[in-house]
Amino acid sequence: MTAFSIPSHWNIDQVLQDIDQHGFAVIDQAYSEQYGQALLDECNANLARFREAAIQNGVVSNIRSDHILWIQEDLPLAQQHIQALHSFAQELNRAFFTGIREVEAHFACYHAGEFYALHRDNPQQKNDRMISAVYYLHPEWQPDWGGELRLQDKHGEWHILRPEPNRLAVFQSDLLHEVLVAKQQRLSITAWLRSGHTLW
Ligand code: OGA
Ligand code: MN
Repeated sequence: MTAFSIPSHWNIDQVLQDIDQHGFAVIDQAYSEQYGQALLDECNANLARFREAAIQNGVVSNIRSDHILWIQEDLPLAQQHIQALHSFAQELNRAFFTGIREVEAHFACYHAGEFYALHRDNPQQKNDRMISAVYYLHPEWQPDWGGELRLQDKHGEWHILRPEPNRLAVFQSDLLHEVLVAKQQRLSITAWLRSGHTLW
C-alpha cells in the first residue's frame, strides 16, 4: 500500500501546521523532475479518454467545464501519486485523528476558456471527503494564463494560488473554492482523501 511514500524533502511539519492553522497548505516542487515528467506523459497519452466532467450520470451541470479521467489500475504512474497521498494521509491521521482510509482521484484537463465555478468538495459534510489535493502537471504556467485556484481559508480569508507546475495544493474539502478561467491547457490530478464511511 505504501510502496511509494512521501518524498523525504516535504516539510511535513510545516504542511500539518498550515492545515491546522489555515485549513490549507501548498507543497512546491512536490516530486522529482523525472517522476513529474512520467506522470505528464501518462496524462498526455490518455487525453483521448477524458470525458466532460459536467456530465455525471447523464445529468448536465454548468458549474464546471473541465474534462476528467478517473484513475484506476491501468494508470500506474498516477497510482504512485495515490500511494504517496495514502502515506500523507497517515501523517494527517496521526496529527489530527482524521481517520482517512481511502483516496480517489482523477486527471483533469481544462482547455483555454474553461473553469470551475465556486463550490465545496464536501458541502455540509454530505460525503466522506476530508482533504482535497490538487497536483499541477503542465510543464509551464505563465502569470497571465489565469486558471488560479481561488480558495477561502478556514478564517474566511481569500487566497489566490497559481497552478505552478509540480505544485501540490491541499485543503479541507469543506472550504469554498473555484478555478478561474484558464487561458491555456491546464492539466492536473485532483484527489480526495476520504474516511471511507458512507453517510448517505
Ligand atoms: C476540483 C477543484 C481545483 C484545481 O477538482 O474539485 O476544485 O485547482 N480543483 O484544479
Ligand atoms: Mn473542488
